[in-house]
Amino acid sequence: MSDVLTPCVTKPADTGFNPLSLSGRTIMVTGATSGIGQASAIYLSRLGARLIVTGRNPERLQATLDALSGEGHQGHLFDLADIEKIVPWMKTVCAETGPLNGLAHCAGVQATRPIQAVKPDFIQEVLTQNLAASLMLAQAFRLKACHVSGASLVYVSSSAALKTAPGNVVYAASKGGIISAVKGLGVELVRDGVRVNAVAPAMIDTPMSDQFRALLSEENFQRVIDLHPLGLGRPDDVAAAIAFLLADTSRWITGSILTVDGGFLA
Ligand SMILES: NC(=O)c1ccc[n+]([C@@H]2O[C@H](COP(=O)([O-])OP(=O)(O)OC[C@H]3O[C@@H](n4cnc5c(N)ncnc54)[C@H](OP(=O)(O)O)[C@@H]3O)[C@@H](O)[C@H]2O)c1
Repeated sequence: MSDVLTPCVTKPADTGFNPLSLSGRTIMVTGATSGIGQASAIYLSRLGARLIVTGRNPERLQATLDALSGEGHQGHLFDLADIEKIVPWMKTVCAETGPLNGLAHCAGVQATRPIQAVKPDFIQEVLTQNLAASLMLAQAFRLKACHVSGASLVYVSSSAALKTAPGNVVYAASKGGIISAVKGLGVELVRDGVRVNAVAPAMIDTPMSDQFRALLSEENFQRVIDLHPLGLGRPDDVAAAIAFLLADTSRWITGSILTVDGGFLA
């Protein structure tokens, strides 16, 4: 007698089942001119989303638009350092595009600098671009004209906020601020019909990590990679996690931080 059981009824495989589908959804991606933001925009368009992509560089924004699958996408140039203008800018964009189903805020800046070398204007610059802009985007996104009920806001924090990163304290603090903000906003915006979560990537192969790499010898950079049991991450590794947090797959998740780190923090 065999221990193997088999179904009494055979159902055909549901090949159309795709809970990650973003068909019919409109998603804004910031930082879409490079690295993680660009890869995310392309990835989300392949899942069926209509993309509103933003960045500062017009040529690279056009290149992203040209790489998207599907139709109806738009690009909007905007400098998020101009935090006073974020809310009126979002209102203008959403008046044109209609309310959004999701916002993936990928734009960010990183500059390694030990605390003894830090000047107040550097702190101001990093905190404004990485943290204040994130908070003003939440204020804008929660407006009725800017999102539909059940919308999802996804931030990109960093493993640097969760594990010591010597010489990187200002950046780490800015990304730690995002983690605290997600905890608060994840509950505060429930009444607006918005879920809020973040991904926290470790080292991902992008122009930003290239800058960091340029500061180190090849040997020392290899040591950094070796801290990641699964090796250096790719932009699509983060894009997949962002897609999960935007799609119905994460309907019951808010206020969470999803580490995407190749085992770095394990
Ligand atoms: N790469 C990593 O290892 C890593 C690890 C953890 C977290 N992260 C985070 O992931 C995010 C994306 O990083 P990345 O590696 O993809 O970097 P990246 O390739 O350097 O891209 C940065 C993006 O941010 C945009 N940006 C920067 N400042 C801006 C501003 N003031 N206004 C509007 N857009 C602005 C840039 O736009 P323009 O080029 O058009 O100016 C660009 O699209 C950042 O938040 C970063 O902190 C990266």
